[in-house]
Amino acid sequence: MNILVTGGAGYIGSHTLIELYKAGHTAVVVDNLSNSNSESLRRVAKILGVDEIPFYKTDIRDREGLENVFAKHNIDACIHFAGLKAVGESVEKPWEYYENNISGTLVLVDVMRKHGCKNIIFSSSATVYGDPAEIPITEQCPKGQCTNPYGWTKSMLEQVLMDIQKADPEWNVVLLRYFNPVGAHPGGTIGENPNGIPNNLMPYITQVAVGKRAELGVFGNDYPTPDGTGVRDYIHVVDLANGHVCALKAIERKCGLGIYNLGTGHGYSVLDMVKAFEKENGVPVPYSIKPRRAGDIATCYSNPAKAEKELGWKAQYGINEMVRDSWNWQRQNPDGYPEK
Ligand code: NAD
Ligand code: WQD
Repeated sequence: MNILVTGGAGYIGSHTLIELYKAGHTAVVVDNLSNSNSESLRRVAKILGVDEIPFYKTDIRDREGLENVFAKHNIDACIHFAGLKAVGESVEKPWEYYENNISGTLVLVDVMRKHGCKNIIFSSSATVYGDPAEIPITEQCPKGQCTNPYGWTKSMLEQVLMDIQKADPEWNVVLLRYFNPVGAHPGGTIGENPNGIPNNLMPYITQVAVGKRAELGVFGNDYPTPDGTGVRDYIHVVDLANGHVCALKAIERKCGLGIYNLGTGHGYSVLDMVKAFEKENGVPVPYSIKPRRAGDIATCYSNPAKAEKELGWKAQYGINEMVRDSWNWQRQNPDGYPEK
């Protein structure tokens, strides 16, 4: 299939491009580069041994820009990664998050249907479960109260896409709820490249390890977890990327609506991650205990059985590969991608 990958220059998008091509698909990328660098696409092309990945520096809210892409390419399906994703920033700038993520998706879906393309895979998040009613979290677990506008954009967009599919069953809509993506392509030439101070645990750990930050602040050690620190379901980004390839097969089978957790089913604490990183890579990660971070929950991990049963997808990488590949990327690219 020929896939429109919105947000394809970003962290998960760039890794997914590799797995798409490896599975025999081709792709066209639309990205406004608001949180990425086109160098990632050049490196993806190099890994794949292709001249280039077709790329349009276009905003998904730009209807004419998207029309132009659909006029030039036969698109079979869209994998929709484009969106703003910084939780804290979304609390400061809610309008910008709702406008970018929701208006952008509404324009995208409208242009898609006008061009007869009614297949979409949407990047959702475990954040839609809020403080989950059950652990491990199955897809039957009710959605919860999100603690920030970013989370609400995901929850609302799930509803928008479900309603569109219900009204027009020609649509195939796959909602993938990612848990905590970490790691990088094993070659270490592409990876996560956050702007400024990282919000997420793994890029913070790697920046401490490479000497860019003095120490990790561990946000709370008084949670009801085995060591008191927060427990999450970290998933290697290459596994996550492969989940999209499996979801495309479901679309080829005309799945209608599908909702899947993409996680490993294992929960690791903050200190588990620090210790695994130090042991696997032989690099110290100094840390100190800080107060809890507002909005954090104690424990969040998935039951990924539905994705295995219906998509034939199961995570292959464990915690050692996650910390190894995160470090491999950071130590080879201490400052991320070169400036745009
Ligand atoms: P990312 O920021 O690296 O990638 C998102 C890409 O979308 C960026 O390249 C950015 O430039 C682009 N973009 C943003 N707004 C756009 C717009 N209006 N038009 C065109 N391009 C636009 O983030 P990521 O970690 O690769 O996440 C990809 C998707 O997965 C996002 O939708 C995110 O919300 C979702 N997600 C991420 C995580 C995570 O922890 N990384 C977890 C769950 C869900
Ligand atoms: C993981 C654990 C922190 C940083 C977020 C979003 C979620 C999803 C994934 C997009 C927690 C602790 C972290 C640090 C720390 N994104 N931590 N020191 O909060 O599970 O999920 O990213 O959809 O929506 O909310 O991930 O990596 O920020 O935190 O101690 O410097 O690490 O308290 O227990 P989180 P995270």
